[in-house]
Amino acid sequence: MTHPVRLGVNIDHVATVRNARGGIHPDPVRAAREALAAGADGITAHLREDRRHITDADIDALSALCAGAGRPLNLEMAVTEEMLAIALRHRPHAACLVPERREEVTTEGGLAVAGHEARIAPVVKALADAGMRVSLFIEPSLEQVEAAHAVGAQVVEFHTGRYCHLSGDDRAVEFERLQTAAGRAADLGLEVHAGHGLDYGTAADMMAIPEIRELNIGHFLIGEAVFVGLTAAIHRMRAAMDAN
Ligand code: PXP
Repeated sequence: MTHPVRLGVNIDHVATVRNARGGIHPDPVRAAREALAAGADGITAHLREDRRHITDADIDALSALCAGAGRPLNLEMAVTEEMLAIALRHRPHAACLVPERREEVTTEGGLAVAGHEARIAPVVKALADAGMRVSLFIEPSLEQVEAAHAVGAQVVEFHTGRYCHLSGDDRAVEFERLQTAAGRAADLGLEVHAGHGLDYGTAADMMAIPEIRELNIGHFLIGEAVFVGLTAAIHRMRAAMDAN
């Protein structure tokens, strides 16, 4: 069944737990298989430069799994020669360019596309020419949306971390920023995705922005899986997204 808004499940944090002991358990590929069986529309994984969670071998196995299941793999990657070579070797369905700093705990903000067009545009072109759907993970600002369009991206994924952390009036202001940026992106012909920090409530909130076609959610779902299991967490997320 195709849902109006796709749910991509990010399995990075299964690998984080695995790597804490350096063994093979829990296996992120098993989590991805379970996520697809539970109704995830695709799998998202971030191969970081420092390999702190997902490894090259995980990407090999996730590529095979998604290809076999006929479901999209969305590879999150920094704008580096190394990651470009890996993406070109695997040719996943989608590549999402994200900022990366070794010292950060997670991807703490969007990619600065405006002002860096000359560095980003050739990478977008190389990925798109190889058949990947190229997405840029950006802050919901008009400046970044317009720069994403200028460098030839097909998709923008808005970083929802600020929205998720704010409350009250500040959250309402950030929601308007998301709405405005989504409208502009759609006017420019860009597909709109959103992700980072989303839980059942904030994911449901995103459904009020009609331009959003996909959410990518990881940390909350993997955390919830400790209490209710991954399948139930995904079912509840799907229900939260479909309720609005
Ligand atoms: N989308 C992108 C581009 C990301 O880099 C991440 C992880 O930082 C996510 C979505 C998922 O965020 P979270 O794990 O907070 O749900």
